[in-house]
Amino acid sequence: MPRKAKAALCRAHNTPVVVESIAVDPPKRGEVTVKLGACGVCHSDLSAITGTIALPLPLVLGHEGAGVVEEVGEGVSGLAKGDHVVFSFIYMCGKCRFCVAGRPVLCLEQGKALTTPLEGTPRVRDAAGTPLSIFSGCGAMAEYATVSAENLIPIDPKIPLDCAALVGCGVTTGVGAVFNTARVEPGSSVAVFGCGGVGLSVIQGARIAGAERIIAIDTLEAKLEMAKKFGATDTVLPRKDDDVAKMLKKLTSGGPDYAFECVGSGELAGTAYRAIRRGGLAVVVGVAKPSDSTAVRTMTLPFEEKTLTGSYFGSCVPRVDFPRMLALYMAGRLQLNELITRRYSIDQAPQAFADLEAGRNARGVIVF
Ligand SMILES: NC(=O)c1ccc[n+]([C@@H]2O[C@H](COP(=O)([O-])OP(=O)(O)OC[C@H]3O[C@@H](n4cnc5c(N)ncnc54)[C@H](O)[C@@H]3O)[C@@H](O)[C@H]2O)c1
Ligand SMILES: [Zn+2]
Ligand SMILES: [Zn+2]
Repeated sequence: MPRKAKAALCRAHNTPVVVESIAVDPPKRGEVTVKLGACGVCHSDLSAITGTIALPLPLVLGHEGAGVVEEVGEGVSGLAKGDHVVFSFIYMCGKCRFCVAGRPVLCLEQGKALTTPLEGTPRVRDAAGTPLSIFSGCGAMAEYATVSAENLIPIDPKIPLDCAALVGCGVTTGVGAVFNTARVEPGSSVAVFGCGGVGLSVIQGARIAGAERIIAIDTLEAKLEMAKKFGATDTVLPRKDDDVAKMLKKLTSGGPDYAFECVGSGELAGTAYRAIRRGGLAVVVGVAKPSDSTAVRTMTLPFEEKTLTGSYFGSCVPRVDFPRMLALYMAGRLQLNELITRRYSIDQAPQAFADLEAGRNARGVIVF
């Protein structure tokens, strides 16, 4: 029997999220139904609403989720009813050259499980019986979700689900970009563009990695105040016509060792690249519009040996990195509860998105 669930849906681009009752089918072979405990509201969900991330509509939003296993389909091992899990929004086949090499964020099969479980047919329908897509194989902004077992990582049930949910995207993306992609070294200087859930996680990661200077850049003063609480040593509030790259070079006598773009702008990616010192590393974490591009002065590549790269989901291996993030949380070194500015009911999902757009939250979380 399908389960009834309230869910946050995007029905048309650039229109407010709607909350509807949907039907969630039980799990087929290799699948699991989860009763959600919490789901963070990530800018990537908003990007699906604006069309920056193009996914077919109508779409059940949500990929930063955590919950309790409700029902397990045939052939699933390692998960049982009652287990606590965090959603992983990347599907990993485990067999392609990237999965085998330990880089599942690059899995060649990922496109197959983008809007349905891997088997390829939808498990969710609206009240009229119309099939719905799910965001990145998750659709976790709903009371129940049926997903491929590979999209779920078991966690310690002692960890509150609202904190655990953040590890399913923002925290692993940010901290992972520092630990795995950039491998930030102790004593280094780091600039972070954009202090939302992702950027603040980069700041925390840099602090844990032992960075000496952490410079936060955001257009909102309130975000810079939050950044200081998570470990920023300096802040920059850029004004129109400011040359931020120049300001950063001055602040660090030659440029930061690393810069992380956590907004989703080709122009800022270029600024991050210009700012870093000779031999430095600029990492693009933000997801820009498909039409956006970044220009670099080609000559600086050989003469200054600078690197511009990207980081998807913190270059993580979910089964390795989720427990690693949660161990840091349990040890009191990674602040998760402090990242949650506000909790919302599923009925308040439209407000949660309005607050994200207005930059009111470090992270907003929907709790079920
Ligand atoms: N690479 C990945 O795997 C991955 C994963 C999750 C999210 N993302 C992307 O990361 C980005 C950030 O996500 P989030 O959830 O933290 O978003 P958010 O909306 O919570 O935060 C964005 C922050 O950027 C600030 N900002 C906007 N314009 C700016 C500018 N010109 N200069 C400096 N700061 C500016 C905003 O004030 C806000 O504080 C988004 O593009 C999102 O899609 C990427
Ligand atoms: Zn996300
Ligand atoms: Zn693969």
